[in-house]
Amino acid sequence: MEIYAIKGGNPLVGEVEIGGAKNAALPIIAASLMTDETVHIDNVPDVRDTNVLLKSMESMGVIVDRNARHRVTINASHIHDYIADDDNIKKIRASYYLIGAMLGKYKEAQVALPGGCNIGSRAIDQHIKGFKALGAEVTIEYGLIKAKADKLVGSHIYMDVVSVGATINVMMAAALAEGTTIIENSAKEPHVVDLANFLNSMGANIKGAGTDVIRIKGVSKLHGSDYTIIPDQIEAGTFMFAAAITRGDVTVKNVIPKHLESISAKLLEIGCEIEESDDAVRVVSSKPLIHTHVKTLPYPGFPTDMQPQIAVALALSQGTSIVTESIFENRFKYVDELTRMGANIKVEGNTAIIDGISKYTGASLMAPDLRAGAALVLAALSAEGFSTVEDIHYIERGYEDFPLKLQGLGAQIEKVDSDRELRKFKLKIG
Ligand code: UD1
Repeated sequence: MEIYAIKGGNPLVGEVEIGGAKNAALPIIAASLMTDETVHIDNVPDVRDTNVLLKSMESMGVIVDRNARHRVTINASHIHDYIADDDNIKKIRASYYLIGAMLGKYKEAQVALPGGCNIGSRAIDQHIKGFKALGAEVTIEYGLIKAKADKLVGSHIYMDVVSVGATINVMMAAALAEGTTIIENSAKEPHVVDLANFLNSMGANIKGAGTDVIRIKGVSKLHGSDYTIIPDQIEAGTFMFAAAITRGDVTVKNVIPKHLESISAKLLEIGCEIEESDDAVRVVSSKPLIHTHVKTLPYPGFPTDMQPQIAVALALSQGTSIVTESIFENRFKYVDELTRMGANIKVEGNTAIIDGISKYTGASLMAPDLRAGAALVLAALSAEGFSTVEDIHYIERGYEDFPLKLQGLGAQIEKVDSDRELRKFKLKIG
C-alpha cells in the first residue's frame, strides 16, 4: 500500500510550476468527442481522474494518443457505442460530462452514475432538468443515467442552484441543439469559461461564460481544434497555502493571478505578504498568522476546494477563526485527523470554530478525500516530527507529482510502499 512519509518542520521555499486545471481538462476531454475531426489538447494534467476518463473513452472506440505527457490527441470519429459503464468511470465524478457531450453529438447517452469524492450528497437534478428542458428523456436505471432525444431544441433554463457540473453539461448539449439556449444563474468558475472557449474554438457559438447568464446559439456541427487548458486554480492555491502553513516563501508559476484573488485576499488577511506578476504569485509567510473568518461560495467567492487548506492554516493562527462551508455538507471529515495532530477545532453543522495552536505534532493520518488529503499533507509538513498519510489515491486524483513538487521546495516527503522503505526514509531523515 502506497503512503506518504513526511518529516515536518522545514519552511517551503522556492518556485513551483502549476499544471493544467483538472476541472477544466475533464469537460474539455469529454467535449472532444463532439466532433468527428481530430482535437489536440495541451496542458492536460497527468492525474488519475483525467487518465480514467481518457481510458474510458478509449473503451468506447475513441482514439486517444498521448503525444507527450501533457498533450493529448483525440479522434472520436469511430466511436462504437454511447455507453460509458466500465468499472473505472464509476470512480470519477466527471463521468457525467460524457452525458452532455454524447447527448449533444449523438442525441443519446448512457453513463454510469458518478462517483468521486464523498463530500456530500452531490445531486444531479439540475443536470437532468437542463437536459429535459432541451427535449431529452432522462431516466435512471440499473445504475446508469440514460438520456435520449429525437432532437434537442434550445430553451430558457434557470438553475435552482449554482452548479459547475450542471452549467457545463447543459452548455455542451445545447452547443449542438437547434436554436438558442439561455442558462440563467450559471456557474462562473474559470473552468466553465475554459470549456466555453474550447467549444467556441470548435465552432460553437457561446457568449456570456464567466457571467451568470450564458447564451448558446446551437450549431449543426463542431470541428477540430488545438487548445491549451488553463492553469489549475486549486493546485496553485494549495501551494500558496503551503507557504503560509510552513512559514515559507513560495512562488507559484504559470498561473492566472485573477483566478487566485479570493485566495490571495485571505492570505493577506492572515498576515502573509503577496507579490503578483503577470503569470506568477509569490506568498511569503514571515509574521505570526492571525485569525479570520471564511465562507465558501461559488466563484468568485472563496472555493470550497480550498476549505481544508485554509482550515489547516487557521488552526495555526492566533485567535479564533470561523470556517463556514456553504457548498457541500460533508467537508469537515479531516478535522478528526487534525485534532490528533493537536488542532483545536469544533464542528457544528456546516461551521468549524477553530482556536489557533502554535504547532501541530506528527501523526498517522488518512486522507478522507482529494483536497482534504492535500491539506493534511500540508499540516504534516509543518508539524513537529514524523507523519504518514494513507489513502493517497485520493490525492493522486488531482495533484500531479505532488511529493516531487513539494520536494522541490525543500519538503521532506516520500511516497513509500513497504515497511522497509518507510524505515529507510526514517533513517535518512534522522
Ligand atoms: C465541481 C468540482 C468540485 C468543486 C465543485 C464546486 C469538478 C469535476 N468538480 O463539482 O471540485 O468542489 O464544482 O466548486 O469540476 N447541486 C445540486 N443539484 C445539481 C448539481 C449540484 O443540488 O444538479 C448542488 C451540489 O450538491 C452542491 C452545489 O450544488 O451543493 C454545487 O455543486 P456543483 O457546482 O455541481 O459541483 P460539482 O460540479 O459536482
